[in-house]
Amino acid sequence: MPDVTTGVAPNSHIAQYQARGLKGRILSGVQPSGDLHLGNYLGAIRNFARLQNDYECLYCVVDLHAITVWQDPAQLAPKTREIASAFLAAGVDGDKHVIFNQSMVPEHAELAWIFNCVARMGWMSRMTQFKEKAGKDRENVSLGLFAYPALMAADILIYKATHVPVGEDQKQHLELTRDIAIKFNNDFAVPDFFPVTEPLIFGAATRVMSLRDGTKKMSKSDPSDFSRINLTDDADAIAQKIRRAKTDPHPMPDTAADAEKRPDADNLLGIYAALADIEKDAAIAQFAGKQFSEFKSALTDLAVAKLGPVGAEMQRLMKDPGHVDGVLRNGAERARALAAPILAETYKIVGFLKP
Ligand code: TRP
Repeated sequence: MPDVTTGVAPNSHIAQYQARGLKGRILSGVQPSGDLHLGNYLGAIRNFARLQNDYECLYCVVDLHAITVWQDPAQLAPKTREIASAFLAAGVDGDKHVIFNQSMVPEHAELAWIFNCVARMGWMSRMTQFKEKAGKDRENVSLGLFAYPALMAADILIYKATHVPVGEDQKQHLELTRDIAIKFNNDFAVPDFFPVTEPLIFGAATRVMSLRDGTKKMSKSDPSDFSRINLTDDADAIAQKIRRAKTDPHPMPDTAADAEKRPDADNLLGIYAALADIEKDAAIAQFAGKQFSEFKSALTDLAVAKLGPVGAEMQRLMKDPGHVDGVLRNGAERARALAAPILAETYKIVGFLKP
């Protein structure tokens, strides 16, 4: 079977949502690796809340993906609750939409196995994230890490999701999801069974860089806590980190071209613009030629005003695991109700005996 790279737009799949005044169905996942920071918030989680009026949304804490690398069993449950708390604190409505953890919906793993048999070794070998994570130690990484994108495809297609919000780093995995959908549809001669899921790309400032080095991504694995603003940081911590954020000896940039050449200033301006919900150019114009100290104090006020309530709500929810577990349990039940018929149909298409 030749690899097919062009697909059908998921029009037939979208129609049913359009009939309900919606644009489609979204699925997205976040790994329970803990320590959410500003980059996760601005790049993903904040957008989850913004999509919920236009789409039917499923937001999944992907604990099966997490164990592709070693996870301390004692930490997995609390970290899962932490991500779910962040979804809720960011404003996702867990009654109207579906918040759940992946391992509670076994259909993900079942469809993933079928996709392991659809995807080709060559496709998986080309995944940049695998190459980066495996590094030189390829012989010693888990088989699950290699198969990771097939599970991600299953997360999406077990709900026939029409759209997935993606950042730069997950684009290749979504491309692979589309290839898997197309190959499955072709191999089994079921045109249009799985949709060819569309990416939803968010505009500026999804790339939040380290506060200590504007050329590196903000990351939970950076040894310096001053490199990032954690979602659970209080006002003092936020203020201190912004005060110590790296800058350069010049006044604030006065053009976009100037900012581009100054990664630390550019990053802080991007963060300001994202938090203020304005274009970066507008932020540049607002602070052009001013001193960094003045800008930093404005940024601190804004960050505290925007992130403070989210962090506080997250803290509150994390002290109420009973409530969060209830949301996840209820979400998993509703997710299973959507997934089970699609898996049953898939099993039939593959030809499994159902005595
Ligand atoms: N791979 C994604 C990440 O690391 C997480 C993820 C798993 C995901 N399944 C997904 C994202 C499905 C979107 C849709 O960020």
